[in-house]
Parts: sequence; C-alpha cells; structure tokens
Amino acid sequence: MAGGIEIMSLLSMTHTNRPTILTGDRTTGPLHLGHYIGSLRARVQLQHEAQQFLLLADTQALTDNVGRHQKVTQNVIEVALDYLAVGIDPAKSTIFIQSQVPELAELFQYLLNVVTVARLERNPTIKEEIRLRGFERDIPAGFLTYPISQAADITAFKATHVPVGDDQLPMIEQTNELVRRFNNTVDRSVLVECEAVLSQVTRLPGIDGKAKMSKSLGNAIALGATPDEITKAVNNMYTDQNHLRVSDPGQVEGNVVFAFLDAFEPDVQKVDELKSHYRRGGLGDSVIKRVLNERLQSLIEPIRARRRELEEDPAEVLAILRRGTMRAREVAGETLSEVRGALGLTYFQR
Ligand code: TRP
Repeated sequence: MAGGIEIMSLLSMTHTNRPTILTGDRTTGPLHLGHYIGSLRARVQLQHEAQQFLLLADTQALTDNVGRHQKVTQNVIEVALDYLAVGIDPAKSTIFIQSQVPELAELFQYLLNVVTVARLERNPTIKEEIRLRGFERDIPAGFLTYPISQAADITAFKATHVPVGDDQLPMIEQTNELVRRFNNTVDRSVLVECEAVLSQVTRLPGIDGKAKMSKSLGNAIALGATPDEITKAVNNMYTDQNHLRVSDPGQVEGNVVFAFLDAFEPDVQKVDELKSHYRRGGLGDSVIKRVLNERLQSLIEPIRARRRELEEDPAEVLAILRRGTMRAREVAGETLSEVRGALGLTYFQR
C-alpha cells in the first residue's frame, strides 16, 4: 500500500496551517475498486494528516438523475458504508450529507452571480458530460451549474486541497476563478483558493478493458463483492486476444489483468517477473488470473466483512452521518456568516 508520506508530499507546503481537505462522491451507487485505488485509499491515509471533510453528494447527483431521486437517496447509505468499511474513521474525518447542509445551497446562490452562462458552457468536463447524456440544448439548469455548487462545497469549508480525478481539474480551475471574483467583488479575502491533489493511479480500467471502471458500464468490482463475484470478474477480464496458447508470447500493455496487478499487487518485483515471463511466452492467463484473484480476495475480504457488520446496524450509520452533518453545518455556517457580512446581508441577529 502506498505510504502516507508519498501522498502527503503531494500536499504543497504553501499552506502553513494544517491542510483542509474536502472531497466526495455522488451517491448513485455503491463504490468499487476504481474508487478504492483512485481515492479511498488516499483518504484513509490523509485523515491522519489533514482535517478532512467527506461529502455524500446527493444534491449534485440529483442534477442528472431527475426522477431517479430514490436511487440517489438510497445510495447515500451505500456510499457511507463503503467509506466506513475501507477504514474512514468518523472520529478523524467528517462524513456528511450535502443536501442536509443548507449553507451550501446558500453559498451556491451567491456564487451564481459571479459567473456567466458562457463560462459555464465552456467548462470542458461539462461539455463532455452534456454530450454523453444527450442533453443537447435541453440542459437542466441545475446540471449546467453544478460546478458552481461544487465550488460552494469546497469553499464553504475553506478547503486547501481537493483530491480528485484528472477529469475534475476544470472544476478546480473554475472554483478558484470564482474565489477570486467573489473576493474581488466584496473587496475582502473571504473565500480561499484550493489545489487539486491527483492520485497516482488515476484510472483503473473496467474488467472489459474499457478506459474506466464504472458501475453503469457493468464492468466494475464492488467493494462489497462476494468471493464468487470477485473470481468471476477476474476470470472474465480481458487479457491479450492474440495470446491463444500458453507458449505464445503475450502482450502486457492494455492487458487488464496486468493493469490490476500494477494497481493492487504491492510486490513490484513479482509483477515485473510475471510480465517478462508473459512477454516471453509460457505463462498462461489462468496463472496470472489466479495471482490477481488471490490478491483481490485478500484485499476485499476485510472490507466486505466490516461492511456486512455495519449493514446490521443502520441506526449507528445514520448516527455517524448525523453527527458529521452537524459538524459540517457548524464549519460551513462560520464561512457563511463571513460571506453574509461581506455582502452586507446582516439586517439583524440570526
Ligand atoms: N463531483 C464529484 C463526483 O462526481 C463529487 C463532488 C461533489 C465533489 N462536490 C465535490 C468532489 C467537491 C470534490 C469536491 O463524484
């Protein structure tokens, strides 16, 4: 497992105070190994070294799930279970539900005034998402503006560091633009700029070799997967379609099993040996799949066990979320007092 120091070195030293991290996930389904390797693993490390806020982004999920609100709300608990199962400690990290922090909606509304529709339409991630979802000209206003909502999530906590995938970089850029604009408008440094923290493994392929592991593409391995589900997924992984006989030389690049071994097998030397043997020929797919299967089984086993244990106690999970949400409201509330003050929205004591 990657060490904390390695990850911490990504946190720049420009912030003299303890860094504040905010990140989160849309609650559209349980999390999978792609999330684990891309972000969850780092969060477990970072919670010891930074003040960390983890957002269950149900409000944001609603922006492109109109009519599927039940799916969104049901998955709040699923994602929370995944966080807790991988080792996010609610005593160290604040896990909270976006929709239950009205301060975020309020800040979102103020920020909407310092951005133009043209700027929103230029966001490359949004452009791509609009294309993928087939919105064309019928873009829900909530969807077009979700980067502003995300900026509110980040700035309400004065987050200094935001761990995200590279597809989210335009969001961070836009957030910082908003911060400068807002501060300029009120002539005070109320909001704080942030930095993106990219994970080392940005993208895990799906078991079918598609660029991204994704539940909706049906190519994912869930963090709560059973031993049988893991074995089946590994056996279904794409390898090298020209590697027909064991004796044939095989290709490692683009081979899903090796992409996973690179991501999950800490014994780099062992992986290198397997790679050169595979390239030479004489190493069958069943052997590399067995090695990977063992690795994934031992990785997921404790996560699944902890998840099952927590599933038995939904009241405890809700209590954790309630406490986290109350704490989040407190912190966001302080920022919002400053924001209201800066805007002169201080008619009487609230
Ligand atoms: N956009 C993120 C996702 O798709 C979720 C998210 C919402 C987020 N607000 C955020 C991430 C603020 C980082 C910072 O999963």
